[in-house]
Amino acid sequence: MPLGTLQFTIDGITVQTQEGQSLIAACDAAGLYIPRLCYHPDLRPAGNCRVCTCRIDGHQAAACVTPVRDGMVVENDTPQLNADRLALIEMMFVEGNHPCPYCVASGDCELQALGYRLGMTAPVYPFFWPRHEIDASHPDIFLDRERCIACSRCIEASRMPDGKSVFSYEGRGIAMHLHVDGWGGLGATQMAAIDKAAHVCPVACIVIRRDGYRIPNGQRRFDKTPIGTDIEARRKAPPS
Ligand code: SF4
Ligand code: SF4
Ligand code: FES
Repeated sequence: MPLGTLQFTIDGITVQTQEGQSLIAACDAAGLYIPRLCYHPDLRPAGNCRVCTCRIDGHQAAACVTPVRDGMVVENDTPQLNADRLALIEMMFVEGNHPCPYCVASGDCELQALGYRLGMTAPVYPFFWPRHEIDASHPDIFLDRERCIACSRCIEASRMPDGKSVFSYEGRGIAMHLHVDGWGGLGATQMAAIDKAAHVCPVACIVIRRDGYRIPNGQRRFDKTPIGTDIEARRKAPPS
């Protein structure tokens, strides 16, 4: 193998990659999908949703914050790990308010799409019915905190590359919510609709106004390409 190349196995498949990659990025490049929600390839990984948890050399760890090591043995697509992921997704649904059939993000939403992929039919836990403030103060961006899954993508994106640090978290536990810098709401910040932070939300918490129904239901991203299948399409067919 060339210098700097290393090799590991995931679900029995051998992957060759370069030193310094995260496990999730190496698997993406190899066409092997690890479910995720907070990870975004353009942002610093936060490792906070735990949906990407794999068994790595016998221990559970989040694939988005685990660097690849030569010889590591990874389990990803197992009934137990997928059941754990489904339980996490089900908890996220009841911790917020998620009326999918009439949500502006339906068909584009990563939480909804992952629920479909993992076989969720209806929430199994009691609803929390949280009440979080809606922020409609910005002329171009709508903030519906009741959909937020606390992935922190917008916080990371607003810090870098946007360089504005518009968002942070406030409160703890079920009371934790997305905080907007300053006192005048989102409309009083430097945030613009072209910012990266306005385009990384996996759900319908940060929504660009007048854009939501540009693409009709049934023709949206995950209506056409179920989540993860774009990554899986990269995988070359094994030699016969
Ligand atoms: S944000 Fe996603 S999961 Fe929540 S209601 Fe909208 S489509 Fe459903
Ligand atoms: S607003 Fe969206 S991107 Fe920001 S933390 Fe909530 S779910 Fe994540
Ligand atoms: S995607 Fe890895 S912890 Fe969220």
